[in-house]
Amino acid sequence: MLNIVIFGAPGSGKGTQSERIVEKYGLNHISTGDVLRAEIKTGSKLGKLAQSFIDNGQLIPDDLMVDILAAKLDNLTNRKGVIFDGFPRTIKQAESLKKLLNKRGEDVTAMIELDVPEEELMTRLIKRGEESGRADDNEETIKKRLIVYNEQTAPLKDWYKNDGKHCYINGLGELDRIFSDIVAAIDSKM
Ligand code: AP5
Ligand code: MG
Repeated sequence: MLNIVIFGAPGSGKGTQSERIVEKYGLNHISTGDVLRAEIKTGSKLGKLAQSFIDNGQLIPDDLMVDILAAKLDNLTNRKGVIFDGFPRTIKQAESLKKLLNKRGEDVTAMIELDVPEEELMTRLIKRGEESGRADDNEETIKKRLIVYNEQTAPLKDWYKNDGKHCYINGLGELDRIFSDIVAAIDSKM
């Protein structure tokens, strides 16, 4: 089983590179942001709750997020492994993921950090907001998402370094170059 955590700030390319990783390694893709946006679309109770956090650029509470993730993991049929996109985002979530995987005799294989300067993140997300209209891609909410990332999520870099899984990738530049760096990093941890 290959379990990859793709990690980085909002707009760093997690979703974009996940698609390529899924294609190459045949993994399941769990994007917690996509899961939440799907719930919002259906108008479920969970969706309504999620929307109030997402619109504010804040994280959904850990306990709820871990339950959602655990249910997604339980429902997988493809046993090749998973790419976790947008999860974990707090140390508590990272600890929960480790426990969930260890219970199955598995672990995270590699944590791939996509590093992109904030100026570029802002440019990418403003552009996507204009093109696709994702509700949280406006300047005010992006700024909040970046603050939350720096305060709550960035400390996971050290957490995964201590766990021996962290791989640094320069996420600025050509998609193909970034992807080949990711493949080299994954292969080095397999
Ligand atoms: P989520 O959906 O995960 O959003 P995010 O982390 O803010 O990241 P994005 O999806 O915006 O960016 P990305 O890194 O996937 O980049 P992408 O490939 O799209 O989460 C949304 C919200 O849900 C959170 O704010 C939170 O409220 C909640 N949530 C989700 N998970 C949670 C959790 N675990 N716990 C609590 N709450 C949670 O690329 C961005 C753009 O850049 C695209 O237009 C793309 O085409 C372009 N691009 C990509 N790569 C390049 C490149 N190399 N050069 C130029 N442009 C590029
Ligand atoms: Mg994404």
